[in-house]
Amino acid sequence: MNKVGLIGWRGMVGSVLMRRMADEGDFAHIEPVFFTTSQAGQAGPAHLIGPDAKVPALKSAYDIDELAGMDIIISCQGGDFTGEVYPKLRAAGWNGYWIDAASKLRMDDSAVIVLDPVNRPVINRALNDGIKTYVGGNCTVSLMLMGLGGLFTEGLVEWTSAMTYQAASGGGARHMRELLNGMGVVRDSVAAELANPASAILEIDRKVTATLRGGMDTPEFGVPLAGSLIPYIDSQLDNGQSREEWKAQVESNKILGSDQIIPVDGICVRVGAMRCHSQALTLKLKRDLPLADIEALIGEANDWVKFVPNDRQASMEQLTPTAVSGSLTIPVGRVRKMNMGPEYISAFTVGDQLLWGAAEPLRRMLNIILG
Ligand code: HSE
Repeated sequence: MNKVGLIGWRGMVGSVLMRRMADEGDFAHIEPVFFTTSQAGQAGPAHLIGPDAKVPALKSAYDIDELAGMDIIISCQGGDFTGEVYPKLRAAGWNGYWIDAASKLRMDDSAVIVLDPVNRPVINRALNDGIKTYVGGNCTVSLMLMGLGGLFTEGLVEWTSAMTYQAASGGGARHMRELLNGMGVVRDSVAAELANPASAILEIDRKVTATLRGGMDTPEFGVPLAGSLIPYIDSQLDNGQSREEWKAQVESNKILGSDQIIPVDGICVRVGAMRCHSQALTLKLKRDLPLADIEALIGEANDWVKFVPNDRQASMEQLTPTAVSGSLTIPVGRVRKMNMGPEYISAFTVGDQLLWGAAEPLRRMLNIILG
Protein backbone atom coordinates (compact mmCIF):
# COMPACT_ATOMS: atom_id res chain seq x y z
CA MET A 1 0.00 0.00 0.00
CA ASN A 2 1.12 3.54 -0.66
CA LYS A 3 2.56 5.38 2.31
CA VAL A 4 0.71 8.69 2.55
CA GLY A 5 2.17 11.42 4.75
CA LEU A 6 -0.44 13.75 6.24
CA ILE A 7 0.67 17.21 7.34
CA GLY A 8 -1.56 19.89 8.86
CA TRP A 9 -4.32 17.42 9.67
CA ARG A 10 -5.13 19.19 12.95
CA GLY A 11 -6.03 22.57 11.39
CA MET A 12 -9.45 23.50 10.03
CA VAL A 13 -8.96 22.40 6.41
CA GLY A 14 -6.97 19.37 7.55
CA SER A 15 -9.72 18.34 9.96
CA VAL A 16 -12.35 18.60 7.25
CA LEU A 17 -10.10 16.51 4.98
CA MET A 18 -9.58 13.82 7.65
CA ARG A 19 -13.33 13.62 8.23
CA ARG A 20 -14.06 13.30 4.51
CA MET A 21 -11.37 10.63 4.11
CA ALA A 22 -12.83 8.66 7.02
CA ASP A 23 -16.40 9.06 5.70
CA GLU A 24 -15.38 7.82 2.24
CA GLY A 25 -13.25 4.93 3.50
CA ASP A 26 -10.08 6.36 1.94
CA PHE A 27 -7.86 5.20 4.82
CA ALA A 28 -8.52 1.58 3.84
CA HIS A 29 -6.47 2.07 0.65
CA ILE A 30 -3.41 3.77 2.14
CA GLU A 31 -0.85 3.46 4.90
CA PRO A 32 -1.33 6.82 6.65
CA VAL A 33 1.62 8.44 8.39
CA PHE A 34 0.86 11.54 10.43
CA PHE A 35 3.41 14.33 10.63
CA THR A 36 3.59 17.24 13.06
CA THR A 37 5.46 20.52 13.23
CA SER A 38 5.63 20.50 17.04
CA GLN A 39 4.81 17.14 18.64
CA ALA A 40 7.07 14.52 17.05
CA GLY A 41 7.11 11.25 18.97
CA GLN A 42 3.65 11.63 20.45
CA ALA A 43 0.91 9.09 19.68
CA GLY A 44 -0.67 9.39 16.23
CA PRO A 45 -4.38 10.24 15.91
CA ALA A 46 -5.70 6.73 15.23
CA HIS A 47 -9.17 7.86 16.35
CA LEU A 48 -9.47 9.90 13.14
CA ILE A 49 -9.43 6.68 11.16
CA GLY A 50 -11.66 4.42 13.21
CA PRO A 51 -12.13 2.63 16.55
CA ASP A 52 -9.53 -0.15 16.06
CA ALA A 53 -7.11 1.71 13.83
CA LYS A 54 -3.39 1.81 14.57
CA VAL A 55 -0.98 4.44 13.31
CA PRO A 56 2.72 5.07 14.01
CA ALA A 57 3.82 7.83 16.38
CA LEU A 58 3.88 11.36 14.95
CA LYS A 59 6.90 12.17 12.82
CA SER A 60 8.51 15.57 12.41
CA ALA A 61 7.20 17.46 9.39
CA TYR A 62 10.66 19.03 9.04
CA ASP A 63 12.47 15.68 8.85
CA ILE A 64 13.34 15.41 5.15
CA ASP A 65 14.43 11.77 5.44
CA GLU A 66 11.10 10.77 7.00
CA LEU A 67 9.16 12.74 4.41
CA ALA A 68 11.21 11.19 1.62
CA GLY A 69 9.98 7.77 2.73
CA MET A 70 6.45 8.67 1.63
CA ASP A 71 4.93 7.80 -1.75
CA ILE A 72 2.44 10.64 -1.47
CA ILE A 73 2.30 13.67 0.84
CA ILE A 74 -0.78 15.80 1.50
CA SER A 75 -0.10 19.12 3.17
CA CYS A 76 -2.71 21.42 4.72
CA GLN A 77 -0.02 23.10 6.80
CA GLY A 78 0.04 26.39 4.87
CA GLY A 79 2.22 28.28 2.42
CA ASP A 80 5.11 29.09 4.76
CA PHE A 81 5.59 25.42 5.54
CA THR A 82 5.41 24.46 1.87
CA GLY A 83 7.91 27.20 1.01
CA GLU A 84 10.35 25.90 3.57
CA VAL A 85 10.05 22.14 3.20
CA TYR A 86 8.96 21.36 -0.37
CA PRO A 87 12.13 22.69 -2.12
CA LYS A 88 14.38 20.78 0.31
CA LEU A 89 12.42 17.58 -0.24
CA ARG A 90 12.62 17.86 -4.02
CA ALA A 91 16.29 18.88 -3.81
CA ALA A 92 16.90 15.68 -1.84
CA GLY A 93 15.68 13.77 -4.89
CA TRP A 94 12.20 12.86 -3.63
CA ASN A 95 9.97 12.06 -6.61
CA GLY A 96 6.69 11.29 -4.83
CA TYR A 97 3.36 13.03 -5.29
CA TRP A 98 2.91 16.26 -3.33
CA ILE A 99 -0.73 17.34 -2.86
CA ASP A 100 -1.12 20.76 -1.27
CA ALA A 101 -3.93 23.02 -0.03
CA ALA A 102 -1.73 26.14 0.10
CA SER A 103 -1.42 28.66 -2.71
CA LYS A 104 2.41 28.71 -2.63
CA LEU A 105 3.01 26.36 -5.60
CA ARG A 106 -0.24 26.93 -7.50
CA MET A 107 1.11 29.02 -10.33
CA ASP A 108 4.37 27.08 -10.72
CA ASP A 109 4.72 25.54 -14.17
CA SER A 110 5.56 22.24 -12.53
CA ALA A 111 2.27 22.16 -10.60
CA VAL A 112 -1.33 21.52 -11.66
CA ILE A 113 -4.36 23.03 -9.94
CA VAL A 114 -6.78 20.21 -9.19
CA LEU A 115 -10.55 20.36 -9.54
CA ASP A 116 -11.25 17.07 -11.26
CA PRO A 117 -15.00 17.45 -11.92
CA VAL A 118 -13.95 20.42 -14.08
CA ASN A 119 -10.41 19.66 -15.25
CA ARG A 120 -9.97 15.89 -15.24
CA PRO A 121 -8.49 15.98 -18.79
CA VAL A 122 -5.85 18.49 -17.61
CA ILE A 123 -5.05 16.25 -14.63
CA ASN A 124 -4.86 13.12 -16.79
CA ARG A 125 -2.49 14.83 -19.18
CA ALA A 126 -0.29 15.96 -16.29
CA LEU A 127 -0.18 12.46 -14.80
CA ASN A 128 0.85 11.07 -18.18
CA ASP A 129 3.53 13.73 -18.42
CA GLY A 130 4.94 12.71 -15.05
CA ILE A 131 3.87 15.82 -13.12
CA LYS A 132 4.13 15.10 -9.39
CA THR A 133 2.78 18.27 -7.75
CA TYR A 134 -0.96 18.91 -7.44
CA VAL A 135 -2.42 21.91 -5.66
CA GLY A 136 -5.96 22.80 -4.63
CA GLY A 137 -7.28 26.04 -6.15
CA ASN A 138 -8.33 29.22 -4.42
CA CYS A 139 -11.68 28.48 -2.78
CA THR A 140 -13.63 31.15 -4.64
CA VAL A 141 -12.25 30.05 -7.99
CA SER A 142 -12.96 26.37 -7.35
CA LEU A 143 -16.50 27.11 -6.20
CA MET A 144 -17.21 29.30 -9.23
CA LEU A 145 -15.97 26.62 -11.62
CA MET A 146 -17.85 23.85 -9.83
CA GLY A 147 -21.00 25.92 -10.33
CA LEU A 148 -20.50 27.41 -13.78
CA GLY A 149 -17.96 24.98 -15.21
CA GLY A 150 -20.50 23.68 -17.72
CA LEU A 151 -20.48 27.00 -19.57
CA PHE A 152 -16.68 27.36 -19.41
CA THR A 153 -15.79 23.88 -20.63
CA GLU A 154 -18.20 24.28 -23.56
CA GLY A 155 -16.17 27.33 -24.56
CA LEU A 156 -19.19 29.61 -24.26
CA VAL A 157 -17.83 32.24 -21.87
CA GLU A 158 -16.28 35.36 -23.42
CA TRP A 159 -15.67 36.92 -19.99
CA THR A 160 -17.10 36.87 -16.49
CA SER A 161 -17.27 39.17 -13.52
CA ALA A 162 -17.61 37.58 -10.09
CA MET A 163 -18.62 39.77 -7.17
CA THR A 164 -18.03 37.69 -4.06
CA TYR A 165 -19.53 37.40 -0.60
CA GLN A 166 -16.85 35.42 1.24
CA ALA A 167 -17.24 33.76 4.61
CA ALA A 168 -15.11 34.28 7.70
CA SER A 169 -13.63 30.75 7.41
CA GLY A 170 -11.57 31.91 4.43
CA GLY A 171 -9.47 33.85 6.91
CA GLY A 172 -9.17 30.93 9.33
CA ALA A 173 -10.62 29.49 12.51
CA ARG A 174 -9.80 32.53 14.63
CA HIS A 175 -11.60 34.75 12.16
CA MET A 176 -14.77 32.69 12.59
CA ARG A 177 -14.54 33.12 16.35
CA GLU A 178 -14.02 36.85 15.96
CA LEU A 179 -17.14 37.09 13.80
CA LEU A 180 -19.26 35.26 16.38
CA ASN A 181 -17.86 37.23 19.30
CA GLY A 182 -18.53 40.40 17.36
CA MET A 183 -22.15 39.40 16.80
CA GLY A 184 -22.48 38.89 20.56
CA VAL A 185 -20.85 42.21 21.42
CA VAL A 186 -23.13 44.10 19.03
CA ARG A 187 -26.23 42.40 20.35
CA ASP A 188 -25.23 42.85 23.99
CA SER A 189 -24.63 46.57 23.46
CA VAL A 190 -28.37 47.07 22.93
CA ALA A 191 -29.79 44.15 24.93
CA ALA A 192 -31.90 46.36 27.21
CA GLU A 193 -33.36 48.36 24.33
CA LEU A 194 -34.13 45.18 22.33
CA ALA A 195 -36.01 43.77 25.29
CA ASN A 196 -38.29 46.80 25.24
CA PRO A 197 -40.56 46.75 22.14
CA ALA A 198 -41.27 50.46 22.64
CA SER A 199 -37.62 51.53 22.36
CA ALA A 200 -36.66 53.69 19.36
CA ILE A 201 -34.91 51.81 16.53
CA LEU A 202 -32.82 54.83 15.58
CA GLU A 203 -31.46 55.00 19.12
CA ILE A 204 -30.62 51.29 18.91
CA ASP A 205 -28.89 51.91 15.59
CA ARG A 206 -26.91 54.82 17.04
CA LYS A 207 -25.62 52.64 19.88
CA VAL A 208 -24.81 49.77 17.51
CA THR A 209 -22.83 52.09 15.26
CA ALA A 210 -20.97 53.49 18.28
CA THR A 211 -20.10 49.92 19.32
CA LEU A 212 -18.93 49.02 15.81
CA ARG A 213 -16.78 52.14 15.65
CA GLY A 214 -15.25 51.93 19.08
CA GLY A 215 -16.17 48.87 21.08
CA MET A 216 -14.98 45.88 19.08
CA ASP A 217 -11.92 43.68 19.46
CA THR A 218 -10.77 42.82 15.91
CA PRO A 219 -7.22 41.42 15.93
CA GLU A 220 -7.91 39.09 13.00
CA PHE A 221 -9.91 41.15 10.50
CA GLY A 222 -8.65 44.55 11.66
CA VAL A 223 -12.14 46.08 11.42
CA PRO A 224 -15.55 44.72 12.50
CA LEU A 225 -17.16 42.08 10.28
CA ALA A 226 -20.25 41.42 12.40
CA GLY A 227 -22.85 44.04 11.47
CA SER A 228 -20.65 45.25 8.61
CA LEU A 229 -18.59 43.91 5.68
CA ILE A 230 -15.03 44.22 4.40
CA PRO A 231 -14.51 45.01 0.70
CA TYR A 232 -10.90 43.80 0.56
CA ILE A 233 -9.51 40.27 0.85
CA ASP A 234 -5.83 39.31 0.99
CA SER A 235 -2.97 41.68 0.19
CA GLN A 236 -2.90 44.80 -1.99
CA LEU A 237 -1.35 44.58 -5.45
CA ASP A 238 0.03 47.44 -7.53
CA ASN A 239 -2.61 47.11 -10.27
CA GLY A 240 -5.58 48.01 -8.06
CA GLN A 241 -6.68 44.44 -7.53
CA SER A 242 -6.53 42.59 -4.25
CA ARG A 243 -4.56 39.32 -4.44
CA GLU A 244 -7.83 37.42 -4.08
CA GLU A 245 -9.20 39.24 -7.14
CA TRP A 246 -6.01 38.59 -9.10
CA LYS A 247 -6.31 34.87 -8.47
CA ALA A 248 -9.70 34.66 -10.17
CA GLN A 249 -8.39 34.98 -13.73
CA VAL A 250 -5.00 33.35 -13.45
CA GLU A 251 -6.24 30.32 -11.54
CA SER A 252 -9.48 29.85 -13.50
CA ASN A 253 -7.58 29.78 -16.77
CA LYS A 254 -4.89 27.50 -15.39
CA ILE A 255 -7.52 25.06 -14.09
CA LEU A 256 -9.32 25.08 -17.43
CA GLY A 257 -6.09 24.78 -19.37
CA SER A 258 -7.27 27.69 -21.57
CA ASP A 259 -5.43 28.35 -24.84
CA GLN A 260 -6.81 31.86 -24.87
CA ILE A 261 -7.21 33.71 -21.56
CA ILE A 262 -10.84 34.22 -20.54
CA PRO A 263 -11.02 37.53 -18.61
CA VAL A 264 -12.33 37.00 -15.06
CA ASP A 265 -12.51 39.91 -12.65
CA GLY A 266 -14.59 41.36 -9.85
CA ILE A 267 -14.50 42.64 -6.30
CA CYS A 268 -14.00 40.23 -3.42
CA VAL A 269 -15.89 41.07 -0.25
CA ARG A 270 -15.85 39.47 3.20
CA VAL A 271 -19.31 39.10 4.77
CA GLY A 272 -20.57 37.67 8.05
CA ALA A 273 -21.16 34.10 6.87
CA MET A 274 -19.40 31.21 8.58
CA ARG A 275 -17.99 28.84 5.91
CA CYS A 276 -19.83 29.33 2.62
CA HIS A 277 -18.62 31.67 -0.09
CA SER A 278 -21.28 33.14 -2.36
CA GLN A 279 -20.76 34.85 -5.71
CA ALA A 280 -22.90 37.04 -7.94
CA LEU A 281 -21.78 36.55 -11.53
CA THR A 282 -22.20 38.39 -14.77
CA LEU A 283 -21.29 36.20 -17.74
CA LYS A 284 -20.87 37.46 -21.26
CA LEU A 285 -21.51 34.49 -23.52
CA LYS A 286 -20.06 34.19 -26.99
CA ARG A 287 -23.51 33.80 -28.46
CA ASP A 288 -27.18 34.16 -27.68
CA LEU A 289 -28.36 30.79 -26.35
CA PRO A 290 -31.88 29.92 -25.17
CA LEU A 291 -32.13 30.14 -21.38
CA ALA A 292 -33.22 26.50 -21.17
CA ASP A 293 -30.00 25.40 -22.89
CA ILE A 294 -27.93 27.51 -20.52
CA GLU A 295 -29.73 26.06 -17.50
CA ALA A 296 -29.16 22.51 -18.77
CA LEU A 297 -25.45 23.12 -19.42
CA ILE A 298 -25.02 24.47 -15.89
CA GLY A 299 -27.09 21.80 -14.14
CA GLU A 300 -25.64 18.80 -15.97
CA ALA A 301 -21.96 19.72 -15.69
CA ASN A 302 -21.14 17.53 -12.68
CA ASP A 303 -22.76 15.45 -9.93
CA TRP A 304 -22.69 18.22 -7.31
CA VAL A 305 -24.03 21.28 -9.09
CA LYS A 306 -27.72 21.83 -8.52
CA PHE A 307 -29.66 24.20 -10.71
CA VAL A 308 -32.10 26.35 -8.69
CA PRO A 309 -34.96 27.87 -10.67
CA ASN A 310 -34.98 31.67 -10.70
CA ASP A 311 -37.85 31.78 -8.27
CA ARG A 312 -38.05 33.81 -5.05
CA GLN A 313 -38.91 31.01 -2.65
CA ALA A 314 -36.48 28.51 -4.17
CA SER A 315 -33.68 31.09 -4.08
CA MET A 316 -34.35 31.97 -0.45
CA GLU A 317 -34.50 28.34 0.61
CA GLN A 318 -31.71 26.78 -1.48
CA LEU A 319 -29.26 29.50 -2.46
CA THR A 320 -27.83 30.63 0.88
CA PRO A 321 -24.89 29.81 3.15
CA THR A 322 -27.44 28.54 5.67
CA ALA A 323 -28.73 25.96 3.19
CA VAL A 324 -25.34 24.88 1.86
CA SER A 325 -23.04 24.81 4.93
CA GLY A 326 -21.48 21.38 5.50
CA SER A 327 -22.69 20.05 2.14
CA LEU A 328 -20.97 19.22 -1.13
CA THR A 329 -23.90 20.52 -3.15
CA ILE A 330 -23.16 23.60 -5.26
CA PRO A 331 -26.44 25.38 -5.99
CA VAL A 332 -26.53 27.83 -8.91
CA GLY A 333 -29.54 30.07 -9.40
CA ARG A 334 -30.77 33.58 -10.27
CA VAL A 335 -29.90 32.70 -13.86
CA ARG A 336 -31.52 35.09 -16.31
CA LYS A 337 -30.74 37.28 -19.30
CA MET A 338 -29.67 40.76 -18.26
CA ASN A 339 -30.71 44.17 -19.61
CA MET A 340 -27.33 44.58 -21.32
CA GLY A 341 -28.28 42.13 -24.07
CA PRO A 342 -29.14 38.50 -24.83
CA GLU A 343 -25.56 37.26 -24.36
CA TYR A 344 -25.37 38.66 -20.83
CA ILE A 345 -26.34 36.20 -18.11
CA SER A 346 -26.61 36.64 -14.36
CA ALA A 347 -26.03 33.82 -11.88
CA PHE A 348 -25.63 33.38 -8.14
CA THR A 349 -23.82 30.45 -6.58
CA VAL A 350 -22.95 29.29 -3.08
CA GLY A 351 -20.42 26.68 -1.95
CA ASP A 352 -18.86 25.34 1.21
CA GLN A 353 -15.42 26.91 1.30
CA LEU A 354 -13.92 24.10 3.39
CA LEU A 355 -15.28 21.24 1.24
CA TRP A 356 -15.14 21.92 -2.52
CA GLY A 357 -13.24 25.11 -1.71
CA ALA A 358 -10.39 23.28 0.02
CA ALA A 359 -10.44 19.66 1.21
CA GLU A 360 -12.46 17.76 -1.39
CA PRO A 361 -10.30 18.38 -4.49
CA LEU A 362 -7.26 17.15 -2.52
CA ARG A 363 -9.02 14.00 -1.31
CA ARG A 364 -10.15 13.23 -4.82
CA MET A 365 -6.67 13.83 -6.25
CA LEU A 366 -5.28 11.30 -3.79
CA ASN A 367 -7.79 8.75 -5.09
CA ILE A 368 -6.99 9.59 -8.71
CA ILE A 369 -3.30 8.91 -8.02
CA LEU A 370 -4.14 5.68 -6.21
CA GLY A 371 -6.14 4.70 -9.29
N1 HSE B 1 -8.49 33.30 0.24
C1 HSE B 1 -9.76 32.77 0.59
C2 HSE B 1 -10.49 33.68 1.51
C3 HSE B 1 -9.68 31.43 1.24
O1 HSE B 1 -9.85 34.50 2.16
O2 HSE B 1 -11.70 33.57 1.61
C4 HSE B 1 -8.73 30.44 0.70
O3 HSE B 1 -8.85 30.11 -0.64
